[in-house]
Amino acid sequence: MYIDFVEQPLSEITAECEVVFIVNKQFDHKWVTDKDLFESYGFKGESEESLFLIHQNKLYLAIEKIDHEEIRNAAAKATRILKKSAFKTARVGLYTGGDCIGRIPKAMVEGFVLGEYSFDTYKSKPSEDALETIFISSEECADKEIPVKRMAKIVENAKKMGCAVNWTRELVNTPPDDATPVKLAEKAEALAKECNLEVNVYDEKWLEDQKMGCFLAVSRASVHPPRLIHLTYKPENPKARIVLVGKGLTYDSGGLSLKPGDYMTTMKADKGGGCAVMGILKAVAETNLSCEVHGIIGATENMIGGNAYKPDDVLKARNGKTVEVKNTDAEGRLVLADCLSYAQELKPDYLFDLATLTGACVVGLGEYTSGVMGWNKDLKNKVIEAADFGGEYAADLPFNRYLKKLLKSDVADMPNIGSARYGGAITAGLFLSEFIGEDYKDKWIHLDIAGPAYVEKEWGVNPFGASGAGVRLVTMFINRLEANFECEDQ
Ligand code: BES
Ligand code: ZN
Ligand code: ZN
Repeated sequence: MYIDFVEQPLSEITAECEVVFIVNKQFDHKWVTDKDLFESYGFKGESEESLFLIHQNKLYLAIEKIDHEEIRNAAAKATRILKKSAFKTARVGLYTGGDCIGRIPKAMVEGFVLGEYSFDTYKSKPSEDALETIFISSEECADKEIPVKRMAKIVENAKKMGCAVNWTRELVNTPPDDATPVKLAEKAEALAKECNLEVNVYDEKWLEDQKMGCFLAVSRASVHPPRLIHLTYKPENPKARIVLVGKGLTYDSGGLSLKPGDYMTTMKADKGGGCAVMGILKAVAETNLSCEVHGIIGATENMIGGNAYKPDDVLKARNGKTVEVKNTDAEGRLVLADCLSYAQELKPDYLFDLATLTGACVVGLGEYTSGVMGWNKDLKNKVIEAADFGGEYAADLPFNRYLKKLLKSDVADMPNIGSARYGGAITAGLFLSEFIGEDYKDKWIHLDIAGPAYVEKEWGVNPFGASGAGVRLVTMFINRLEANFECEDQ
């Protein structure tokens, strides 16, 4: 589907259908031309309501207020409805409001693109959609004296953002045998070619040379060898250096601490953090951001077998610390520990890790919200704010000294799980913190995306399955960093 920003009044654009958002039941707007019919269709204009008047060639979507989340969700719904129709083209006006001129139009365009995605690659008869193009009229720019060129850029970048999220979703949804660590690395190499990124792929021999004992232990029982993928985006005179580390478990069976069957399905999505890091690199490169961004993905499988790592094993991490394995299903933190230690050698100004790390995070925050952890409260707040403006949910999970005490081992420097039943998301974060050097403690953020990365039902702009969680959040953070945390579309 194409999105075309057209410098013409809405009524002059030739299209088979028109999309109109009704804000706060304002039926008197110039684009609302069928208000006399609303009552007979029982349409009240309540938030999340829609009315498709096929014979009038009009699709109405009601939103409560001019708000980026409302319009993003409604736009995604519009694409879903139009995809089921025979219309090939649709037109829509721009909606603006608030103090950051690009935020609402960006959300609308993202919504259209995000609503288009569904995972049907493995269906023998994929659905054939008629919808080809959505034309966006610049009429509102003229009315409100907004520079058209600036708006065209905002629309263009929003399209790229949406596409990067859909690209990530497809990768996360890909079944484990078609997205092995080696295949993930090939995907990274193809991405690097397409987006002009540097890429280095390291194999198990290199992991051994690096003394990544934790990463290697997790990988041992898989027939698919592990890979550490390092992608780099390097603009001229970068504003800051950001290093992103992603958990890329292409499958998590739990290892010898085997998951029950019900909990094992969906674990193809345990690569969600790694895929999100790749998607962020794609978005950052395609929108020409001015920060240097590194993506480090620990790609491996957690399997069972005669040479599997075991509960009771003691592992030695890259930074020299020893870890007593108490549960082989707490594998993500072991892979991340070694990746984070490597990541700090790149001397980041900001160090973020993204991981589907704990079921406890899903229990605590629900399946739609990512957990944000770290030592720097101001940075956590900036990340949570970026999540909001980007259209994701994220919430602070605070560290405390008592939870830290749960990470005591009698035989090694630390166990790989906390000793209490509660607080599992935070003890996992505190475990990772053990691998962050003093110089980087205030620069580091851990994002537990276990809930929103993969949800088995449609929600907001997200279809069944992978959502691409983390991509809009982190890309928005980088955008805002470049704008000194003011309006991000400067
Ligand atoms: N990949 C899982 C976490 C997960 C759970 C992601 C649900 C997405 C949805 C992780 O490796 C894991 O198994 N964690 C264990 C840790 C426990 C053994 C301390 C968990 O959360 O149960
Ligand atoms: Zn696990
Ligand atoms: Zn896992």
